[in-house]
Amino acid sequence: MVQKKKGEVKEIGKVAIYPGSFDPITYGHIDIVERGLEIFNKVILAIAENEEKRPLFSVEERLQMVKTVFKDTPHVIVDSFKGLLVDYVAKTNAVVILRGLRATSDFEYEFHMASMNRSLNTHLDTLFMMTSKDYFFVSSRTIKEVARLGGAVDGLVPDLVVRRLKEKFKLPVAKKKQISWDD
Ligand code: PNS
Repeated sequence: MVQKKKGEVKEIGKVAIYPGSFDPITYGHIDIVERGLEIFNKVILAIAENEEKRPLFSVEERLQMVKTVFKDTPHVIVDSFKGLLVDYVAKTNAVVILRGLRATSDFEYEFHMASMNRSLNTHLDTLFMMTSKDYFFVSSRTIKEVARLGGAVDGLVPDLVVRRLKEKFKLPVAKKKQISWDD
């Protein structure tokens, strides 16, 4: 709520920014968005256009996948941004940055990022949510590695992402070849 004039209070929905590379989106990310919506009225999922990270999927491909995943979730806004996150946040009505935290290994990276963002904008806080136990081991990086080597990532990413990964790595979309030890 924001105090407008004396005695007049304007309701503003609390909005969180959930930034990331989402290269590609996983059920771990989706879990954070869904739980974020229990706290915030709106979640802006913001895909960073950071070419230095040499993403597997272009920003357009990532936008398309994420928009499809959340097509029936009206309180999720999907967008992309270039440059500093704090500058992007300033253009929105978000009050907080939302991030998922998997294990102690994530902590240092997240701590540095949250501290840097707070030093760039002292009004901007980062809220961390512990990843649900089912997705503790899921990261976009390991998903890409497993998929590239032909492993199954079903149940860890949406079916649409499974298909896109197979297309990227030119793997057969249908059943995998069975190896018979009798051959
Ligand atoms: O999913 P990721 O790759 O861990 O997300 C990292 C991301 C995109 C949130 C972070 O790299 C970021 O905010 N990039 C934008 C550039 C920026 O603001 N850098 C300063 C913060 S350290």
